[in-house]
Amino acid sequence: MGPCWEALYDVKASNTYVTRNLFIHTYHTNGMVTQSSYAPQTTEQVLEWFPEINDITDEDLRNETIHVVLNFPDYFWYAPAAKRHHPVEHQSRHGLVLHTKRVCTTYERLCESMNKQGFLTDDEVNYGRMACIFHDALKHGEPPTQPDGTVKNHDFLASLWLSQFDLPEKVLGAVESHNGPWYVGKKPTNHLEQIVHMADMMASDPNNPNIKVKDPHPVLVEKFPRVDPRE
Ligand SMILES: [Fe+2]
Ligand SMILES: [Fe+2]
Repeated sequence: MGPCWEALYDVKASNTYVTRNLFIHTYHTNGMVTQSSYAPQTTEQVLEWFPEINDITDEDLRNETIHVVLNFPDYFWYAPAAKRHHPVEHQSRHGLVLHTKRVCTTYERLCESMNKQGFLTDDEVNYGRMACIFHDALKHGEPPTQPDGTVKNHDFLASLWLSQFDLPEKVLGAVESHNGPWYVGKKPTNHLEQIVHMADMMASDPNNPNIKVKDPHPVLVEKFPRVDPRE
């Protein structure tokens, strides 16, 4: 399944798709590729893709986050975010990772104020950081059923999938409610859930297409040369 998906995204995202498509197809028919070469396999590789994990101030929560990210479906690492309601870069290959990192950036700004005002505890700030990284992990379903778009219950699916890990309930709640009044998951019912939802909306807005991201992975730098590292 993985290589077929890669080929599909290349057709949409790249004007060199013919070469790359054939390359992947050749690999696939030789049985040499069974999964995406982008999916991180080690803690170090996870932190290269998501240095945002180092913003989490609790070591146990950081380690559990790494464990969850290692289990993300392979397509997460190369799929687009969505065709509609997103800045154009999110619509191409690796767009889902870029979108996710932009949600993290936006969340950092919002949670700082909410924490200072006493609306979010330090623990909750960390739970939100985790929820932002996890929120679209199953954007296209698992197994993927919508290579061309968003699965309507991906908020609910993700929180269900996350329940197999050792995570605070509040993380699952923020993932399930990240789409606010839309899609299948519940609506936000507390400050943490509202802020994660707001961060996702802000980072998906085509009117807000230049959000910087934390230490972008070399693959993202090459694919999105216009995307700057955040301060
Ligand atoms: Fe989503
Ligand atoms: Fe999202």
